[in-house]
Amino acid sequence: MVIYLHGDLGVGKTTFVRALLHAMGYIGRVKSPTYTLLELYQAGGLHLCHFDLYRFHDADEWDDAGFRDEFDGRNVHLVEWPEKAQDLLPQADMEITIKILSTETMCNGRNIEVRAISQMGKECLETLQS
Ligand SMILES: Nc1ncnc2c1ncn2[C@@H]1O[C@H](COP(=O)(O)OP(=O)(O)OP(=O)(O)O)[C@@H](O)[C@H]1O
Ligand SMILES: [Mg+2]
Repeated sequence: MVIYLHGDLGVGKTTFVRALLHAMGYIGRVKSPTYTLLELYQAGGLHLCHFDLYRFHDADEWDDAGFRDEFDGRNVHLVEWPEKAQDLLPQADMEITIKILSTETMCNGRNIEVRAISQMGKECLETLQS
């Protein structure tokens, strides 16, 4: 399962992943992978890979860092800034777009749009909606 997380700098992508991991039972610190590019977790019987590709610039780095091996079809991948490695990443099963609600509405919240792309993504979204 590959999930792209879209949204401007500081919109709350890492915060969303942190909340998701904790909801799945992960106890411990969830750091932003700003500098490491990748942080690994185990929660709810799943292996989760949290990428932040904002600082990813060099395609050669992809294989050197062993990222190709991470996409073995078994892990769940949550990818911030997927635009930075467009040609290297597998297609997303789901895309999540976060936006800060306009301050004019005097509301401090976020709008989260979830889009299912693959069959697996659609099944996942249907489960969430049921
Ligand atoms: N839903 C929310 N409501 C209020 N504040 C939030 C919410 N989500 C995130 N924040 C705050 O916004 C700030 C930035 O959040 P976060 O680091 O998750 O953003 P990000 O999208 O991952 O940024 P980057 O693109 O730099 O990785 C943090 O201080 C966080 O506490
Ligand atoms: Mg982040």
